[in-house]
Amino acid sequence: MSLPSDFTWGFATASYQIEGATEKDGRGPSIWDTFCKIPGKIADKSDGSVACDSYNRTAEDIALLKQLGSKCYRFSLSWSRVIPIGGRNDPVNQAGLDHYRKFVDDLLDAGIEPFITLYHWDLPDGLEKRYGGLLNRTEFPLDYENYARVVFKAIPKCKNWITFNEPWCSSILGYSSGFFAPGHTSDRKKSPVGDSAREPWIVGHNLLLAHGRAVKVYREEFKPTDKGQIGITLNGDGVYPWDPEDPADVEAADRKIEFAISWFADPIYFGKYPDSMRKQLGDRLPEFTDEERALVKGSNDFYGMNHYTANYVKHKTTQPEEDDFLGNLETLFESKKGENIGEETQSFWLRPNPLGFRNLINWLSKRYGYPNIYVTENGTSIKGENDMPKEQILQDSFRTKYFRDYAKAMAEAVSEDGCNVKGYMAWSLMDNFEWAEGYETRFGCCYVDYENGQVRTPKESAKEMKGIFDALIK
Ligand code: FCB
Repeated sequence: MSLPSDFTWGFATASYQIEGATEKDGRGPSIWDTFCKIPGKIADKSDGSVACDSYNRTAEDIALLKQLGSKCYRFSLSWSRVIPIGGRNDPVNQAGLDHYRKFVDDLLDAGIEPFITLYHWDLPDGLEKRYGGLLNRTEFPLDYENYARVVFKAIPKCKNWITFNEPWCSSILGYSSGFFAPGHTSDRKKSPVGDSAREPWIVGHNLLLAHGRAVKVYREEFKPTDKGQIGITLNGDGVYPWDPEDPADVEAADRKIEFAISWFADPIYFGKYPDSMRKQLGDRLPEFTDEERALVKGSNDFYGMNHYTANYVKHKTTQPEEDDFLGNLETLFESKKGENIGEETQSFWLRPNPLGFRNLINWLSKRYGYPNIYVTENGTSIKGENDMPKEQILQDSFRTKYFRDYAKAMAEAVSEDGCNVKGYMAWSLMDNFEWAEGYETRFGCCYVDYENGQVRTPKESAKEMKGIFDALIK
């Protein structure tokens, strides 16, 4: 079992989770700045205003990546640094753009390949206020297209682009559960689109349109000279039927992936939503116009895969009208026979299960014709890590084992199953603002001492990463 010699690996982060400096150099507010102010939304009442101060520590972060042997680095841009209000007729902030251009130059000088995510959830608040942000089917895709064009033009040296990070989270967590910005809940209240139960599906649709627009611009206006690649990053968990003897559970397990991944990947690879979604959601799921379908179909040079865990899946018998937006099924960590997915972590939704990773890489590869895959996030929290003394946090053997096992499962999917995984980025380079969980959950391979000068110290997992990949890459 091995990985090919041109396989790339490194670490990943996102702007709002690490940058801080939210008022510096003309940055406008994003929906996350606003959301963090709502009482009860963030576990430790924190926000990203300081975070890891990475905006002011770019040299330090690059030196850290270099020290760890990272071949690539995935990070995201803050749209409201580039265009503070966000829209296509709003002014561009040269200082924001220059910051990112220099960052890419410096990464390349250090021999590290940049992977830029254009959108990792921090929509300019100006667009939320102006027209309801992601809910607007005409304005949002056009403003996103404009933002993407501004960035492609300014940073031609970057050859790897990710349009959106986890549109499932933007749609479901932002517009159904309300756990993420802007915090809407889909309980059939009046909303800008008339019925809030429709909002997540409308948002998902609009994200696909915006993705399609940016890809078209990249391919037509930049790619001929840039020779780069562009794709979307989707999140999805591994699945096992709760009762493998029950055909309804077997079917529900596939449906779970369809409601997470195929919601976006089917339109991108096949030009239509999955039948299981149409069946359950009816006309709450928007229809593609012919023009929209043409824009979205075929709009991926690679598949960006964020992956953390697996679940047992049990079908439910409730009627779809009674609303289970996530596929009319239940997810569990225990099978009917009492087997467990993996050990508990600090995150209620995450337990290690490397086989689930290999299985899902295979599922995706089969369904979508063996596309090139970049694993754009994979990692784990550790139960109670934040309460441990620093010396103990630095010995994160639980995390090291997670990475070792997952990298091995991925290498098996490549060399034994024939899947085309081309790169891997661990989440995350360093501890950071973990959204609704604030700073209480640490996902970093490097420890960040927030109280004492923001010093970054590699944990065992960070130091072992190079060895893990050196052993696999032939
Ligand atoms: C993913 C997010 C990333 C991080 C990890 C733990 O869903 O993309 O920003 O929060 O989870």
